[in-house]
Amino acid sequence: MNTVLRLFGCVFALFLAFASGKPIAPSIPVPRYFERSPSTPAAISIDRVQKDLGALISNTSLIFGPASDAWSDATDRWNFFSKPNISAVVEVGQESDIAKVVKYCNDNSIEFLAYSRGHGMTTTLAKMKGGIEINMSKLTKVTIQPNKKTALLQSGAYADAILGTLGAEGYTAVLGANGCVGFGGLSLGGGLGRLQGQYGLVSDNIVSMNVVLADGSTVTVNNKSNGDLFWAMRGAGHNFGIVTQFEINIFRDTSATWHYHNYVWTQDKLEAVFKGLNDLQGVGKLPAKMGASLGQISLNTSISKTEAVIQWTFAYDGPAKEAEKLLAGLNKIKAVVNEQGDVSYPNLLVAQETDSASASCSSQPYIGASANLQTYNVTAQRQLYNLFVKNAALEPEIGANARLYYEGFSSLGSQAISAASTAFPHRDEYLPVYFITPVPTGKESAATAWAYASRDLWNKGQPQRRPTTYVNFAAGDESLEMIYGHESWRLQRLRSLKAKYDPNNRFRWYNPIIPPT
Ligand SMILES: Cc1cc2nc3c(=O)[nH]c(=O)nc-3n(C[C@H](O)[C@H](O)[C@H](O)COP(=O)(O)OP(=O)(O)OC[C@H]3O[C@@H](n4cnc5c(N)ncnc54)[C@H](O)[C@@H]3O)c2cc1C
Ligand SMILES: *[C@@H]1O[C@H](CO)[C@@H](O)[C@H](O)[C@H]1NC(C)=O
Ligand SMILES: *[C@@H]1O[C@H](CO)[C@@H](O)[C@H](O)[C@H]1NC(C)=O
Ligand SMILES: *[C@@H]1O[C@H](CO)[C@@H](O)[C@H](O)[C@H]1NC(C)=O
Ligand SMILES: *[C@@H]1O[C@H](CO)[C@@H](O)[C@H](O)[C@H]1NC(C)=O
Ligand SMILES: *[C@@H]1O[C@H](CO)[C@@H](O)[C@H](O)[C@H]1NC(C)=O
Ligand SMILES: *[C@@H]1O[C@H](CO)[C@@H](O)[C@H](O)[C@H]1NC(C)=O
Repeated sequence: MNTVLRLFGCVFALFLAFASGKPIAPSIPVPRYFERSPSTPAAISIDRVQKDLGALISNTSLIFGPASDAWSDATDRWNFFSKPNISAVVEVGQESDIAKVVKYCNDNSIEFLAYSRGHGMTTTLAKMKGGIEINMSKLTKVTIQPNKKTALLQSGAYADAILGTLGAEGYTAVLGANGCVGFGGLSLGGGLGRLQGQYGLVSDNIVSMNVVLADGSTVTVNNKSNGDLFWAMRGAGHNFGIVTQFEINIFRDTSATWHYHNYVWTQDKLEAVFKGLNDLQGVGKLPAKMGASLGQISLNTSISKTEAVIQWTFAYDGPAKEAEKLLAGLNKIKAVVNEQGDVSYPNLLVAQETDSASASCSSQPYIGASANLQTYNVTAQRQLYNLFVKNAALEPEIGANARLYYEGFSSLGSQAISAASTAFPHRDEYLPVYFITPVPTGKESAATAWAYASRDLWNKGQPQRRPTTYVNFAAGDESLEMIYGHESWRLQRLRSLKAKYDPNNRFRWYNPIIPPT
């Protein structure tokens, strides 16, 4: 039974603040050569696009605008607050169509945006006004290569589709934790997940990509061809091109079962729990096979109407006996709910409430904010708890579904890879955390204030470190340094690669390195 984890519901990732939020740290000014930006004509004629572009692309593609019955589905997104105001959707039927759409857009001064699975949650996406969304959702083919060392993924592939094909042949790959999320958006930002401790980030396992650049040309990007772009696209990839095909490492799936252990503790155990977690994981030393240590603080009214509870779920790539040795300390803390089992990987997603049918995969208007930690500061966690309980009493409509979320994937594999070797800047951040809540109408500013106050408490709990945010968890108000790295060479290198590969800043909607003017 997995009822306990219902609260993991909104799990993973989210956070969204309002587009109006002020950056919490100043950024370096934008170089002048990026100021020129094409703008979409006020009105795009759908008939015209259907006729002209329709003649250029494959006949399994669909082109439609707001008058179509398909429009409301086609503009839906995981987070309501990250909806761009687009003028038309092109659902491409073939990989080769993508370059044709980009060229057509360039020839007609139309903005464009790649869409894989629509889980991108940043409010920067909502700044796009007018233009074409290139929906790649039909392109989900996964092909294991003859050498059985790599697989080819089409650009709309996502975890369920990938696991399905690989699993049938006895293989696995490094993917994000949820079944529903697109490989595209996730991997281009780095990609955190349960196999990260063993094999590195999702992006560390990209071998090669076919990429459509801003000018519509198609290039191969790997360590031999366009190596500079290969560096940039593993961490800041959304800024540089549209990947039409990924080639990724695959691994023989040797794990018979995964062990999960789910707990619910009452708040009086908070100090013991966070201390127990620190004992288990040290500072970035969560054992490689302890793939996930995920927690949540939220209300469960069947336990208490006012005191939020602490839930945790662990996933271990191996048998119960090995896993429970690691969990011995936490097992000593008396829990209200305590469940464990040994299951296949697809069933592990269900046990951790990360499967496609779980609440975490459903669309909502979400607001949140996120930080990265190295270890849990127990004093700060108590402050976060107290703020949560206080605000939940003041704003019960928000409090009912709000949560503090704690992500801990083993990072031994990602730490073993040189930090300078890719654009992902956070290999020394081990614990992404966030406040996230679906927002009742009219409660946007209260939810935003709560999200920011939570982020502040997390960051104040590590006064010797500079605040950072994982690009794929960013709300949209962060400074560029927080997202792309405080070491100045990183942004300098990314900016010079933007000048080389996207001089007109066409890719500027997803936490952009060069924000739109
Ligand atoms: C429920 C949930 C669980 C999550 N779990 C994890 C997790 O375990 N690990 C983790 O690292 N992150 C996780 N995330 C965050 C996730 O990485 C981002 O939300 C990511 O943007 C989702 O990608 P998408 O393709 O589904 O979304 P989309 O909105 O389709 O894509 C986001 C952006 O990526 C770009 N993009 C997408 N595809 C391509 C492509 N083929 N080529 C070029 N650019 C492209 C576009 O700019 C697009 O706007 C999770 C998010 C959610 C909502
Ligand atoms: C709340 O806790 C009870 C155990 O007391 C559990 O059975 C139930 O599933 C929990 N509810 C949610 C939404 O997690
Ligand atoms: C679509 O195009 C293919 C070739 O690319 C062709 O064989 C097929 O007949 C076309 N179908 C329609 C309905 O036009
Ligand atoms: C994308 O395309 C898929 C299938 O082609 C469709 O089901 C979905 O609604 C579309 N979504 C968007 C946002 O266009
Ligand atoms: C989207 O853009 C159109 C055209 O500019 C405009 O009429 C409409 O009000 C916008 N919708 C929203 C929700 O901003
Ligand atoms: C380049 O990629 C190939 C294929 O993945 C790999 O075998 C090789 O070691 C890589 N070389 C470098 C310098 O990273
Ligand atoms: C822990 O957090 C508290 C509250 O923000 C802070 O005062 C303290 O310095 C932090 N401790 C460490 C070791 O960083």
